[in-house]
Amino acid sequence: MRRPLIAGNWKLHKVCDEAVDFARELLDAVGSKTEVDVMVAPTFTSLFPVCQTLKSSPISVGAQDIFWESKGAWTGEISAEMIASTGATHVIIGHSERRQFFGETDETVNKKLKAALSCDLTPLVCIGETDEERSTGKTFDVLKGQIKGAFEGLSPDELAPVVLAYEPVWAIGTGNTATPEMVQEVHAFLRQFVAEFTQKDLANGMRILYGGSVKSGNIAELMALEDVDGALVGGASLEVESFKGIVRYN
Ligand code: 13P
Repeated sequence: MRRPLIAGNWKLHKVCDEAVDFARELLDAVGSKTEVDVMVAPTFTSLFPVCQTLKSSPISVGAQDIFWESKGAWTGEISAEMIASTGATHVIIGHSERRQFFGETDETVNKKLKAALSCDLTPLVCIGETDEERSTGKTFDVLKGQIKGAFEGLSPDELAPVVLAYEPVWAIGTGNTATPEMVQEVHAFLRQFVAEFTQKDLANGMRILYGGSVKSGNIAELMALEDVDGALVGGASLEVESFKGIVRYN
């Protein structure tokens, strides 16, 4: 009932030509029909050409961030409407790298989420604990706080398109994937908490992705977990061969 989503976050990689070439190759490799939803997130500068390349294909395109205001004197920022105007349909919000290095907070995540929903962009809201938070037993409290902060003021109906992405910070780019037991434990907890905080039906329908050192060698065991509905992939989404292996995990 929850169609899986495999999303590639290219982070700060690929200039326009490389992004477009990659999109073409990926389309060839993945074909015109996929068993899971597939999304790639290029940098802002490549959004439009990548969207043109993947037009009418089963591969969706998302931005890596968004700003909450729709227009005005905000030098350097990009609005939801601008993202949507490129043809992109998704947006990543609250990635831990934004939280760590660019001052993203639960409050700004909430504003960005509202902006994305107002333009019908499908938001991928990222949450996750640091190494220290896990080792001091704070994981569940941190995740609860991030969800509460992100979803503040939004009704279950408004939250329906939201995709949650659980990305433990210590697993990102480190090769240390969380064990299947850890992932299932957290995902089940997240679904339960979303049900309590919002509504059971919303929680049951919400896709919860795992991210953090996902590769073709570990995707199958992750996807076999009851509460894992896909993956948000960084490094292994940068090469067509490895990303293809993740998209076709079974
Ligand atoms: P890696 O797959 O490189 O660990 O990155 C995960 C990530 O941050 C995706 O958003």
